[in-house]
Amino acid sequence: MKEQKEEIVTVRLAVKGDLRWIKRVNESCLSENYDERLYINFFYNYPGLVWVAEHKKKIIGYIMVELRGLKIMRAHIWSIAVMSKFRGHGIGTNLMNVVETQLVDVHNIQFITLHVRQSNIRGLRLYASTMKYNVKQSIPEYYDDKESAVYMVKYFVKTHDK
Ligand SMILES: CC(C)(COP(=O)(O)OP(=O)(O)OC[C@H]1O[C@@H](n2cnc3c(N)ncnc32)[C@H](O)[C@@H]1OP(=O)(O)O)[C@@H](O)C(=O)NCCC(=O)NCCS
Repeated sequence: MKEQKEEIVTVRLAVKGDLRWIKRVNESCLSENYDERLYINFFYNYPGLVWVAEHKKKIIGYIMVELRGLKIMRAHIWSIAVMSKFRGHGIGTNLMNVVETQLVDVHNIQFITLHVRQSNIRGLRLYASTMKYNVKQSIPEYYDDKESAVYMVKYFVKTHDK
């Protein structure tokens, strides 16, 4: 198994004071950036679904997940990022695993979806090879800069495809 910086990186639920650091990690890792109010609203709308990776009391990664659906509970990975110098040590995988466990055990989620840029090789490897998400479809010009998204899904119980 790949060595992980377990002794120095902790994954825990976010608290409100983490939000501005999550915003900074987002801005250093992704081109989809958001106003501070969006993080605050997200935090209150989806309690228990914002997690952070912490190293020496600094936030170095995060994952944010939306709950969707009424009859069939599903979730959508809204954003995940790990600061570049900490990548490749299993932190992204750990964030995904923690959230999947929470979603299935606490929220009874039947499937999880996500979008990833078609050029995002690291993201695609994390989702497809490591986390076993399947490609559902390609969505042309999904992003503001017109890049296509790969829409992926992972089922946790058998359900009809929607
Ligand atoms: C995608 C991301 C969150 C992965 O985080 P991470 O902590 O590096 O992930 P892990 O260390 O758990 O690695 C998971 C997989 O990613 C791939 N990966 C990680 N680092 C890599 C690197 N430097 N080069 C190529 N692939 C890499 C590997 O396939 C790895 O799987 P493996 O266990 O088979 O080697 C991180 O690269 C990131 O923040 N990227 C920028 C933001 C982003 O793209 N977010 C996703 C938007 S949809």
